[in-house]
Amino acid sequence: MTTPPPIAMLAELTHRCPLSCPYCSNSLELQDKAGEMTTDQWADVFRQAADLGVLQLHLSGGEPASRPDLVDLVTAAHEAGLYTNLITSGVGLTPRRLDALEAAGMDHVQLSLQGTNAALADRIGGYKGGFNRKMLIAQEIKARGIPLTLNAVMHRQNLDDLDRTIEMAVELGARRLEVACVQFHGWALKNRAQLLPTREQTEMVKRTVAAARTRLRGVMAFDFVPPDYYADYPKACMGGWGSAGLNVIPDGTVLPCHAAESIPYLTFEKVTERSLRDIWYDSAAFNAYRGTDWMPDPCATCERKEVDFGGCRCQAMTLAGNAGATDPVCVKSPDHDKVVALLEEVDAADAEADFTYRVPAG
Ligand code: SF4
Ligand code: FES
Repeated sequence: MTTPPPIAMLAELTHRCPLSCPYCSNSLELQDKAGEMTTDQWADVFRQAADLGVLQLHLSGGEPASRPDLVDLVTAAHEAGLYTNLITSGVGLTPRRLDALEAAGMDHVQLSLQGTNAALADRIGGYKGGFNRKMLIAQEIKARGIPLTLNAVMHRQNLDDLDRTIEMAVELGARRLEVACVQFHGWALKNRAQLLPTREQTEMVKRTVAAARTRLRGVMAFDFVPPDYYADYPKACMGGWGSAGLNVIPDGTVLPCHAAESIPYLTFEKVTERSLRDIWYDSAAFNAYRGTDWMPDPCATCERKEVDFGGCRCQAMTLAGNAGATDPVCVKSPDHDKVVALLEEVDAADAEADFTYRVPAG
């Protein structure tokens, strides 16, 4: 098999963030400011990414606005020829900074939404006043006509607000709404009982998204990440390991996905020590689960093996204790009974218990 170049790169510029969402996708071991790559190092990574074939750059965190050099980083990405998407909570942006980012070549903003009202959103984000600041910056984005995606992270505590979430996205002029049901890695695993949707919510979200997609055709597009514990087959996580995208975390470590560090027997290399091209094509970690040759049965002989690529390696690690196993979400997996048992266990757990919030990065 010939490995294609990556299409997208997620750059976790920093792990610092004013919010503390209990499902944060950053690793449990957050990196501090002192370990972050410098402006010049990131600019070099962006040029390497563009040379490698990356088209879209997602500037993320933590909160990317926590980097004082964010405008310089956007300039560098733009000069490298990358389509630049800023993934932000909005906290840390101001009208003036937005103007500077636009002038620097920022192409798109993806604004996260923790909830549809201040009480809910601020409880989930663990940051009082965050919702109101977000709404102010959302109006500024709308006024400037910057292409906007609203990224609604959905779970048991806010799924019943899905209709209002969709209305808000339309009101804010979003071109796209991402209804992203929480995936259970890292911080979200610590809060699974409070975040895992009920079976009824899971059915409702599928119906509501399908209906809204039809109703709003031509107005707003939808991306939908369903809650996969209730599914028969897993999702094609990352479009297949090492096949379409890569993540670079604050200190320059390059990962095939945001949760890859949960696989203890893989070693991930740093772009400060080896080129991005070499890491993508030749590193042991990126080649570990690329394609279909690594697959055990039942995947190896399954007609869906090039549809979902055996599911999510990190989920297999978490639920089956082996990243090289079939994702236990799959009904054909020998570990599927673990998912069934887990759903029963979570049903009996206290969904009202306090969250374990993400801790602040230093
Ligand atoms: Fe996908 Fe493997 Fe399940 Fe087939 S057996 S549906 S390839 S996870
Ligand atoms: Fe790592 Fe799915 S999150 S492969």
